[in-house]
Amino acid sequence: MTDLYAVVGNPIAHSKSPDIHNAFAEQTGEDLFYKTLLAPLDDFEGEVARFLEHGGSGLNVTVPFKENAFRLADSLTARAQRAQAVNTLKKMPDGTLQADNTDGAGLVRDLTVNHSVNLTGKRILLLGAGGAVRGVLQPLLEQDPAGIVIANRTVSKAETLAKDFADLGRVSASGFAEVEGSFDLIINGTSASLAGELPPIPVSVVHQNTTTYDMMYGSNTTVFNQWAEDHGALRTIDGLGMLVEQAAEAFYVWRGVRPQTARVMQSLRNERRR
Ligand code: ATR
Repeated sequence: MTDLYAVVGNPIAHSKSPDIHNAFAEQTGEDLFYKTLLAPLDDFEGEVARFLEHGGSGLNVTVPFKENAFRLADSLTARAQRAQAVNTLKKMPDGTLQADNTDGAGLVRDLTVNHSVNLTGKRILLLGAGGAVRGVLQPLLEQDPAGIVIANRTVSKAETLAKDFADLGRVSASGFAEVEGSFDLIINGTSASLAGELPPIPVSVVHQNTTTYDMMYGSNTTVFNQWAEDHGALRTIDGLGMLVEQAAEAFYVWRGVRPQTARVMQSLRNERRR
């Protein structure tokens, strides 16, 4: 019988996850179908329960339910525990629900494998201190960078994150305007670009070998990456690769098979240009 998976969110109609996972299934010969699932804002738990009762094998979880999924799970992987947010749920053979977070692994894989950006010994600036940034800190620190500075509009949130991850490496907190020095890699994990806004960081953070990564993506260069290009960054990368790689990691969690991502990324890029 064909196994059933879904991405659950609200809204969900425009999610690219079904295209990505159904392409992975075709490529790997895994017998599964993946669809979208719209959950009511006040009944995520009920929607998940009904999906699982009707034979669902696993779920991806997106906005605004990543914290609900964290609370709902029977067991958590170490990286989900650290992230305090969950984007992947897996029904285990004993019927319990295991939760994982593949966002950080997706980011690191996109950087290191797809873009050959070595993170070891590098100075990293992370902009933002919300769920997106919390989700990627452990996998980034596992690459053994020289240090990570977390800069946020609300400095106390950056300080909390720096404290929570201090056991994994050198992490410090800052306000945007107070960021000192320059960085090899600057990652934008704020939602400022949704509003077309830029975190007000000094231009001196960019040097001639700086790579920037915007977790967002769109049909045009993001506002943040445009700013970085204008100020001499060597290379700018958007979040489309992270989207596909977090999906590939979830597929691996569910099926034990790692799909190839390059062709799926290319077709999403082509679609976007149309
Ligand atoms: P997500 O799950 O996407 O991380 P979130 O937890 O709501 O969403 O976090 C949003 C992040 O974007 C926060 O770091 C937020 O800053 P604050 O903690 O000060 O609220 C940041 N952010 C949102 N809008 C912003 C803006 N216009 N300028 C700068 N930072 C912004």
